[in-house]
Amino acid sequence: MNKANTFRWGVATSAFQIEGAYNKDGKGLSIWDNFTKKTTRIKDRSNAHTTIDFYNRYKEDINIAKNIGFEIFRFSVSWSRILPDGSGKINQKGIDFYNNVINYCLETGIEPWITTYHWDLPLELEKKGGWANREIVDWYRNYVIILRNNFADRVKNWILINEGIVFTGGGYLLGLHAPGKRSINKFVAGIHHVLLSQAEGLRVLKQFPGQNVGTAISCTKIDAYNNKKSNIKTAKRIDALMNRIFIEPHLGMGYPMDTLPLLKRINKYYRAGDEEKIIADFDFWGIQTYAREVVKRAWYIPYLGAVLVNPKKRKAIPSVMGWETYTEGVAYFIERFSKYNPKKTLWVTECGIALDDNENEKLRIDYYTTIINNLYKLKMKGINVKGILIWTLVDNFEWAEGYIPKFGIIGFEKETLKRIFKKSSLWFKDILSP
Ligand code: NOJ
Repeated sequence: MNKANTFRWGVATSAFQIEGAYNKDGKGLSIWDNFTKKTTRIKDRSNAHTTIDFYNRYKEDINIAKNIGFEIFRFSVSWSRILPDGSGKINQKGIDFYNNVINYCLETGIEPWITTYHWDLPLELEKKGGWANREIVDWYRNYVIILRNNFADRVKNWILINEGIVFTGGGYLLGLHAPGKRSINKFVAGIHHVLLSQAEGLRVLKQFPGQNVGTAISCTKIDAYNNKKSNIKTAKRIDALMNRIFIEPHLGMGYPMDTLPLLKRINKYYRAGDEEKIIADFDFWGIQTYAREVVKRAWYIPYLGAVLVNPKKRKAIPSVMGWETYTEGVAYFIERFSKYNPKKTLWVTECGIALDDNENEKLRIDYYTTIINNLYKLKMKGINVKGILIWTLVDNFEWAEGYIPKFGIIGFEKETLKRIFKKSSLWFKDILSP
């Protein structure tokens, strides 16, 4: 039996990481355009002004994805390309660009999936407080209405907000991602507003018949360093932070405040009726997982009381991202999330492995082989996992890490941006061919 036939297959991408054309055709600046101005924030001192120039090369990349055998092309819309100031006047050229991408996907016979938000908030909205300002629920709702009105006649599959915990944590607590803030209050307010916004986005899209709408949740397997009670408790706390906050409130379960007392600060941002407003019955949940972390109690670390144990110290080999690649994580989280609701459709909306230039593609092929075998077993067990979108098609700008980590199954020549087929892309072509 050909395992490839059992699932649906696609590639996942995001606007800021691939488009370039950061100030072309009326696009406004995003927080990431601003953040990367200070080059020391990015490991290789790079920016994404051009990145891999998807803006001009979308046809080529969509053709490549199709020729390999993928059925789905997931891309995100850059909010500031559509609304340069985040709200107000629409930039028609931005709408035109995404219409071109969508139409080309359809022409080519690959399904376009839109992510409404993949971290590149319009800078003008950040100036007003960004995700920490409750008004963002309205800004986001209006933006999604524009997407719906322009694209939902042809696009049927949507991912609302990508990896809430990563951009609120990275951007508002740790300051490692845009907008580079370090504030516990902005962080918790951000979490609450992301959840409220996402629930609104769902309502907006579901007003248009036939839409399949989900969310993409970042998951990280968290283990305790040893069996010490304090470390086990710490692992539970960090697990709540990393793996529960962006699903449980949507299910009406509230925030896991008992396990993670820091969340009590959210009460300050709660308004009457929020418990109801936050409930969101998505059509599917997208699981995205890359790594495992081992944690230890550290009383001196504020709010979280935990440190991550360096992978090398526990004999794990870190990837170029510094993470322990945990291949079993995909199956672990699919199974775990299916327990919230066995009927819910699950997707792997991202998974991938970063290699550097010296590493062998065999690692990537082995990684996907294990994941696919595991998903196949889950499917045989009756778990409702529908498909997998791999991260990613072409190597690109990996946020604070710049261009060093390479997640693509396609590479590119630095000078010319010419796409290069890696062994893993040929491997995919082989398993996806009928
Ligand atoms: C998840 C994010 O959605 C994506 O933007 C990023 O490139 C990958 N993780 C790899 O870190």
